Formats: sequence, C-alpha cells, structure tokens
Amino acid sequence: MAFTTWKATLSVKVEQLDQQHKRLVDMINDLYEAMKAGTGKETTETILSELIDYTLVHFADEERLLTQHGYPDIADHIVLHEVFTQQVMEYDNKIKAGCSVLTLEVMMFLQTWLVGHIKCEDMKFSQFLNANGVK
Ligand SMILES: [Fe+2]
Ligand SMILES: [Fe+2]
Repeated sequence: MAFTTWKATLSVKVEQLDQQHKRLVDMINDLYEAMKAGTGKETTETILSELIDYTLVHFADEERLLTQHGYPDIADHIVLHEVFTQQVMEYDNKIKAGCSVLTLEVMMFLQTWLVGHIKCEDMKFSQFLNANGVK
C-alpha cells in the first residue's frame, strides 16, 4: 500500500501544478519504499536530494505563476515555502552528516506538510488563478 496518495480533492485545478504535486507525492512514496526496504544510506540520500530539488523547482514555478498574475497573498505563501525548505534542508544536512537517519518521523513530516500545504494553502489560489485564465 502506498504511503500517501494523490486524490482529486487535492486538485488546485491548474494542470501544471497538479502534475507537479502528483510527482511530489510519488517521490515521497519512493522515499518511503526505500526507507522501508532498508535500501541503504546512499539510495535514500539520493532520493531525498531529488525530492528536495524537485520541491524547489515546484515552489519556483508556483511562485512565478502567482507573481505573474498578481496573487495578493504571494508574500505569505513564499514564507510558507521558505520555512518548509529550511526544515527539510536541516533534516537533509543532518542525515548526510551521519548525525541522523531517515526515520518514519521525517517521512510523516514530509507527507503531512506537503498534503496539508496543498489542501489548505495552495487551494487558496486555485479560484484566483482559474479566474485569471490559468487552468
Ligand atoms: Fe504547491
Ligand atoms: Fe505552495
């Protein structure tokens, strides 16, 4: 069973962003599978790095779209992305330095944050972007 799943209720009704959110969910599942299988430090670290890189690409694309269309709450939204990025980087640094390992707690943080952010924060700009012709 997948660790987390993308559901239609998570759709922000913008194709590009939905695709990216789906990929992030897939990457969290890949990371979970690697952790569970005990694939080894190198593999989990590589998958974690890929997840972080793709998260940054996604945040940048999302912020660009919101900026282009003059989303009024863009500043607050960027702060949320930054706080998450800092937290994930901290986990990543500790894991890579050998001071910590990828645990279920880290997985729960990634999953809860991502799904919660899409559902409660990204959802706020869904109607705004649609009204501006972005679908
Ligand atoms: Fe997003
Ligand atoms: Fe976002």
